[in-house]
Amino acid sequence: MSIRKSDYENYDYQQFWEGNKRLYEDYSERIALRRLLRGEETRDRLFLDIGCGYGRLFNEYRHFSRIVLVDYSMTNLANARMRINKFLSDTAGNIPRVLYVAADAARLPFRAEVADIILTVRMVHHLEYPEKYFDQVRRILKKEGLYILEFANKRNTKNILRFFIGKIDISPFNKIPSQVGETIKNYHPAYINDQLSSRGIIVEKSVSVSNFRLGLLKKVPGTNVLALLENLYQRFLPFIALGPSIFIKGIKEDPQRHHKASIGIRQSTHTKKNNFINRLSDFTDIIICPGCGNTNFRPGQEMIECSNCGRSFSIKKGIIDFRI
Ligand SMILES: C[S@@+](CC[C@H](N)C(=O)[O-])C[C@H]1O[C@@H](n2cnc3c(N)ncnc32)[C@H](O)[C@@H]1O
Repeated sequence: MSIRKSDYENYDYQQFWEGNKRLYEDYSERIALRRLLRGEETRDRLFLDIGCGYGRLFNEYRHFSRIVLVDYSMTNLANARMRINKFLSDTAGNIPRVLYVAADAARLPFRAEVADIILTVRMVHHLEYPEKYFDQVRRILKKEGLYILEFANKRNTKNILRFFIGKIDISPFNKIPSQVGETIKNYHPAYINDQLSSRGIIVEKSVSVSNFRLGLLKKVPGTNVLALLENLYQRFLPFIALGPSIFIKGIKEDPQRHHKASIGIRQSTHTKKNNFINRLSDFTDIIICPGCGNTNFRPGQEMIECSNCGRSFSIKKGIIDFRI
């Protein structure tokens, strides 16, 4: 099991973002994400947010026609569902179809090559074996699909300075992931690059994020000035990867590019308003049993059962529990 002790079941993650304390980081992450998603077709496309938490970033990708929110924490997923249902009931226009799935990122219950876009923000630092999760990304992402990943950057300005004045022993320049406390890992950009390219995912863009995240700076010039500076940094110097957080945009290679058929999915995108409560029937073409990989399920009372291995998966308050 690759879930680590940083379990979000009994932790109020929403409260981490409430108030003004992290407005700057939230803003920095959103502008990076907007930049990386700019120009992406949203119609007939399946978007997966893996390690979605309480759906903080949902409104940045709400235009995609089908969206799956995945997390290991039932508490976070329940909060995400509540928040998103409220958000969608106040929204005009097309409503996406949304599914909530509890699963381990290292054992995802989705068919191969179904996702047009996979997003993961602030999650890989929790994984004991990130390689297993990257294997899943490779499996699930369509050819030429987009992978947007945020990771904590060990080679950041603060670490470099601390290393040179002898405050930390581990070099921020070596590629090996560094353990911070018991449950967090920071990664060197080259390590992430190697992990992805060895799986056929080519990093096309990299954006250094939260570049001015220093306690004093946050207090003195204030969030508005920092937001302006951040915007300029991300626009003109995104490749100087010295921020504490890096967003990358990777594309999964397609070895037979010119033979490729349409990557669209067939279903209609025009979902009526008030029809957004997640329906498994909108997603039966993408789910598999995380135990045996079978694609057929028998429906039951508040559960579905794998017709091959017999494992049952509960559906509670609109969340399918695929954790095994
Ligand atoms: C710091 S939160 C980030 C949430 C969201 N992406 C955001 O940026 O607001 C990390 C999330 O990753 C989830 N997580 C940690 N390990 C996981 C795993 N092995 N599989 C799936 N989710 C996991 C946690 O439950 C938590 O909701």
